[in-house]
Amino acid sequence: MDLPIKLQQKLDNRIAQNAYRKLGDQHTITDFSSNDYIGFASSEAIFEKTHEFLTKNKIKTNGATGSRLLSGNHSMYTIVEEQLNAVHATEASLIFNSGYDANLGFFSSVPQRGDVILYDEFIHASIRDGIQLSNAKSYKFKHNNIEHLEEMLLRFQQENSSVFVVTESVFSMDGDTPDLVSMAKLCNTTQAYFIIDEAHALGVFSDGLVQELNLVNDVFARIITFGKGLGCHGAAILGGKDLINYLVNFARSFIYTTGLSPHALATIQTAYTYLKSKKGKELQFQLTENILFFKKETQRLNLNFIESDSAIHCCIISGNEKVKEIASQLQKNGFHVKPILSPTVPKNQERLRFCLHSYNSKEEITNVLEQLATFVL
Ligand SMILES: Cc1ncc(COP(=O)(O)O)c(C=O)c1O
Repeated sequence: MDLPIKLQQKLDNRIAQNAYRKLGDQHTITDFSSNDYIGFASSEAIFEKTHEFLTKNKIKTNGATGSRLLSGNHSMYTIVEEQLNAVHATEASLIFNSGYDANLGFFSSVPQRGDVILYDEFIHASIRDGIQLSNAKSYKFKHNNIEHLEEMLLRFQQENSSVFVVTESVFSMDGDTPDLVSMAKLCNTTQAYFIIDEAHALGVFSDGLVQELNLVNDVFARIITFGKGLGCHGAAILGGKDLINYLVNFARSFIYTTGLSPHALATIQTAYTYLKSKKGKELQFQLTENILFFKKETQRLNLNFIESDSAIHCCIISGNEKVKEIASQLQKNGFHVKPILSPTVPKNQERLRFCLHSYNSKEEITNVLEQLATFVL
């Protein structure tokens, strides 16, 4: 059956703009693209330990059987949420099926009509989608720009309404980090509720930057995800008990969906235990070393990258066609580097995005950057 004409036109436009997306096979070449920053997704130790845990505790069910509010609140949920509370020094936590669901649930249900949401202009799509579903008004502030945020906070302070400020501790498409300490101070003085998405910080900066920077008591909520640094699946919102009780009652992406399988939860539990082990710490250290080495090499080769201390490093290459061409050359030469195209990022801000890992060798880093230099310099 033919697609409705408007849909076909939209697809044709994507092709014309060189921005058509299609699914590919999982790659086997050198990984500079996955979010498996410290190699947990392919860790046999985590896989085996999860299996042992499930067998030892006689947990033999494959699925949750329902929403957590109906039949799906398996005992593994309590075990993992208590572990999260301890590791992340939070009063309470609530596991969602993914980071997308967590952000959708939070932003669609917490800010109310008459409230204001101030968000960084480069905020992740899951937060934008949550905001779209909210009855609150929303305004973006310039990326990582404290002065602009301050100006907006002063403008939107009103009686009988709440202001929510949201940012990411590591931006997914830039790899950079805002001045979270100054932002927290600003939110404190203006009584705004501060929310930080830590998706790309967990496992890269230990338990996340909020804890590294001692900001636990300054944030209203944190969103952490398990599909990136922890190499498994799912996400959680960390906050006070009252917030968590509210979300259980009103976050529709939490209520109207089947819970995670016991196996998925056991994997999260094992991944956290592994993160705290000697081996887990070694892997985080190797990643940090690789990040430092990558930065040194970009300087040596005079390559222009967005400033970042995280595992994500981006080289701006204007134009979908050009960035796709360079990515495909690097892929042909054995390096899986992804082009990030507009409209995912603004036009002319297209980029090559390198994700670094504990398991990348120094030689691989030098090789890929030397090749990149031949294409862009
Ligand atoms: C900043 C940020 N938040 C949330 C998400 C969504 O997390 P998940 O992949 O668990 O749905 C992502 C994933 O790309 C992300 O980059």
